[in-house]
Amino acid sequence: MNSAVEIQRHFASDNYAGICPEAWAALEEANRGHAISYGDDPWTARAADLIRDIFETRCEVFFVFNGTAANSLALASSGQSYHSILCHETAHVETDECGAPEFFSNGMKVLQIPGAHGKIDPAGIERAVKRRSDIHYPKPRAVSLTQSTEVGTVYSVDEVKAVGAKTRQFGLILHMDGARFANAVAFLGVNPKEITWQAGVDVLCFGGTKNGSHVGDAVVFFNRELAEEFDYRCKQAGQLCSKMRFLSAPWVGMLEEGAWLRNASRANAMARRLRDHLNEIPEVKVLYPTQANAVFADLPPYVIDALRKQGWKFYTFIGEGGCRLMCAWDTSEEDVDSFVADLKRLLVEAPKDIPVATADHRKL
Ligand SMILES: Cc1ncc(COP(=O)(O)O)c(C=O)c1O
Repeated sequence: MNSAVEIQRHFASDNYAGICPEAWAALEEANRGHAISYGDDPWTARAADLIRDIFETRCEVFFVFNGTAANSLALASSGQSYHSILCHETAHVETDECGAPEFFSNGMKVLQIPGAHGKIDPAGIERAVKRRSDIHYPKPRAVSLTQSTEVGTVYSVDEVKAVGAKTRQFGLILHMDGARFANAVAFLGVNPKEITWQAGVDVLCFGGTKNGSHVGDAVVFFNRELAEEFDYRCKQAGQLCSKMRFLSAPWVGMLEEGAWLRNASRANAMARRLRDHLNEIPEVKVLYPTQANAVFADLPPYVIDALRKQGWKFYTFIGEGGCRLMCAWDTSEEDVDSFVADLKRLLVEAPKDIPVATADHRKL
């Protein structure tokens, strides 16, 4: 029987994982001697060039500490305080950023759009734009989509293009929250440009942290006009790292030899393995297509409780219900199999009469 101390890797979040070897090696190499501060160092120039290479375009690149800052500052540069941002109702910018997009934009309002499987329905953009045109309504200015989505699904090339087309039709800016962009590219097997600037994306927040870096996401402006004075916005928001080489060097390590895609592919593969095991268990219901690195599943409450007592960590408050089981770049086949073995055993052995408060696992 497992005990909590033996569990090395959890399924709570891909940011539970450590730093991948390639990012670590680059950090170590960057830690030699002195380098010019605030981003004028060779590591930052190299990382930005590598990002331009993988997107095959002259984009403007900025490195910030985390995804909330990347999203909020990118969205703030898309409009004025009286504008609104349209996003899916489960979008991180709406549900998990503590109002930061509104705060950093001095008041842009986030409006929710419905859609199946965590994806914006393009018709919803049209409805939101046409709902009102009077001066009392926060004027729609930007659309934010998350790729891969908060529920582990991935927009296809055509789906991003459809959102892009609607966005352009109404003269809006298209922002992509790519905290797990690498997982989407790995799943689709496409060239990164096909699901970004070629599909109408103006600005991408490219996640490094969940992909194997220690900390830091990149804001990539394909629409370079939007990047004007973005450096000032970063500085004012406390997002200009003085020792910038330590934010940018891991990108060099991960992009240079393709570790970013290997990491994402591995996490995706572990999610598929987990999904396949869960699909064989009658008491478990997998909730969405498993395309990136997350599996969402309904588990009986007494098993959720028992798994947690066993030491497993996972979230139950993300998306629209169910347990979120997230795989990371370092999740192993043994981790998946050991979780599933515990789950199967506890379905039989665990006491089923747990208190109502514990059964309401969304509150945990
Ligand atoms: C979809 C999505 N966007 C952005 C983020 C970035 O969040 P943070 O500010 O914690 O780096 C996350 C992290 O959980 C996320 O899941």
